[in-house]
Amino acid sequence: KRVVLAYSGGLDTSVILKWLRETYNCEVVTFTADLGQGEELEPARAKAELMGVKPEHIFIDDLREEFVKDYVFPMMRANALYEGLYLLGTSIARPLIAKRQIEIARQVSADAVSHGATGKGNDQVRFELGYYALAPDIKVIAPWREWDLTSRTRLIEYAEKHQIPVPKDKRGESPFSTDANLLHTSSEGKVLEDPWEEVPDYVYSRTVNPEDAPDQPEIITIDFERGDAVAINGEALSPATLLAKLNDLGRAHGIGRLDLVENRYVGMKSRGMYETPGGTILHLAHRGIEQITLDRGAAHLKDELAPRYAELIYNGFWFSPEREMLQAAIDHSQRQVTGTVRLKLYKGGVHVIGRKSPYSLYSEKVVTFEDDAGAYDQRDAVGFIKLNALRLRLLGRRDGR
Ligand code: ARG
Ligand code: SIN
Repeated sequence: KRVVLAYSGGLDTSVILKWLRETYNCEVVTFTADLGQGEELEPARAKAELMGVKPEHIFIDDLREEFVKDYVFPMMRANALYEGLYLLGTSIARPLIAKRQIEIARQVSADAVSHGATGKGNDQVRFELGYYALAPDIKVIAPWREWDLTSRTRLIEYAEKHQIPVPKDKRGESPFSTDANLLHTSSEGKVLEDPWEEVPDYVYSRTVNPEDAPDQPEIITIDFERGDAVAINGEALSPATLLAKLNDLGRAHGIGRLDLVENRYVGMKSRGMYETPGGTILHLAHRGIEQITLDRGAAHLKDELAPRYAELIYNGFWFSPEREMLQAAIDHSQRQVTGTVRLKLYKGGVHVIGRKSPYSLYSEKVVTFEDDAGAYDQRDAVGFIKLNALRLRLLGRRDGR
């Protein structure tokens, strides 16, 4: 009777820790992942110890490099956007947390795993599809779907009754619900639940207001190799340090804010606010390098596949054969997506202002409005257009438009 709990150290997962022991009479193993959420993780260890978790049952792992290299970057190669706008910052973190949780469950011979996602959202689906894909017979406990702590007040009462420290600001209603990692911070609930009301300033935590961003634009370069960013301004950086650096640049220029009403997998609409500073720069830069290195056929097929791929990530199907099939095709397309993009960052905007590559398909000689010295024979276009027009002319004759 042992459960591995995805534990943040916050009030909710601390209550879950206690509740699991009481309800299932089990031993709880805590797992806290550092995904670059920008919070100290040692307090989570201290809190777990305080709650009587054995030191050898407290797992705290720095997963930042793995997160960016094996999850964020593959997704960036796809140019994935859910419903045209959302860069999937929460969605892409869940499979990695699930994977590590299952590894720990095996290591400590646990028979169950548990998480703090509610029964109304996407995250429960993402965690649990990950668990079941990797450990088909694992038992899953989702306290939010089981317990009767249906209000904040009852949750706090439960915490106080069991000597779980309640942070002062949690006594009142917390102003909204957040999830953060190196790629993004998302905020949902409370003040954001009326989709007509503008997101108040205090909800933003990792970008300056674009209106207050510097009046001077900043020019940067990003180098790509096979579809992955590898350097900023010529300085080679590891995946996680590169994304962290883009986050700093994005923060300063107010880049990557998004107010969105989206369709959750369970069927309801939800309004959220996202800040994805570095990811927004990366997305645009990647499209910039693809502009000169991808053939039209490959590029347009990618654009057709991208929404499908994004939906798979959003709905929690990272560990699925169809996601892996799409990934293989996308990765294949990236073999020559190598080169440099120059970008301008200015008051909330990212603009590609230059691109170059040893594998560029762009031919100035062919495209030029000046004398092309025989690189392209304009007379070839006559037959090209004539045959394309053939059926339109037949139709036109018949229908007399
Ligand atoms: N709606 C986003 C998604 O499904 C974020 C979910 C978690 N965010 C939160 N604030 N609890 O990916
Ligand atoms: C949750 O339900 O725990 C957060 C929102 C979501 O998963 O969509």
